[in-house]
Amino acid sequence: MKLIIEILRQRDSASEPYRQKISYEAPPEDTVATLLSKLNREQELTDMTGKPVGRIEWQCSCLQKKCGSCAMRVNGVPRLACDTKLSECKSGKLLLEPLRKFPTVCDLVVDRSVMMTHLLSIHNWLEQSAHHTGKALELCYDASRCLQCGCCLEVCPNFFAEGDFYGAAAFVPASRVLSQLRREQPQDLSEFYRRNVYNGCGKSLSCRDICPAGIDIEQKLATSNAVAVWKRYFKK
Ligand code: SF4
Ligand code: SF4
Ligand code: FES
Repeated sequence: MKLIIEILRQRDSASEPYRQKISYEAPPEDTVATLLSKLNREQELTDMTGKPVGRIEWQCSCLQKKCGSCAMRVNGVPRLACDTKLSECKSGKLLLEPLRKFPTVCDLVVDRSVMMTHLLSIHNWLEQSAHHTGKALELCYDASRCLQCGCCLEVCPNFFAEGDFYGAAAFVPASRVLSQLRREQPQDLSEFYRRNVYNGCGKSLSCRDICPAGIDIEQKLATSNAVAVWKRYFKK
């Protein structure tokens, strides 16, 4: 299929971003990730004004929807490049931009380290050993599929990298620990949860609808609220 690809490019974090348009033919079954790899392998690729196209920087690792590193905005929607087929782009116009809620490093690469900083800061661990059983086990398994891709934060109206609200990328992993918490255990995570999630979440659930892993985010929010806010602990 014939594509007009527009990429929001930026040489480094200090440079001005600019848009580059490329005309290219690719099979519809290719993914955006495959397309970017092919573009970078072309020896003499030019943009639509005839200027040479330099290497397009983007991130990937697994290419199997497992690592989250290839998240970017595809036609305005946060998606995984390795999980987005070109056939979905019916108009033939493909707009690729970096996620906007994180600082741009270069081209389609952003610095998502704030998600890790948040997970460390909320004390997302248990001080004592625990056993997963029943409903808590199912919840933990589902939550463990979080890729830390940041797509949920991209669509969240209340998340900003410098803000105090940590969003689904924090409360989904936190729900694993909260579901195993007992009344007699240290409650640091519950306090952080109330301050950095519960108090800032508007419950619009845009995060649920965008998650590329299909995690039941509403369930993680409801069960975490039950433990951290209403002190309703899971049965052992
Ligand atoms: S909850 Fe979903 S959208 Fe958010 S970081 Fe995890 S996998 Fe990505
Ligand atoms: S429910 Fe709404 S406010 Fe809360 S984390 Fe999801 S998108 Fe953000
Ligand atoms: S490269 Fe790992 S999720 Fe896309």
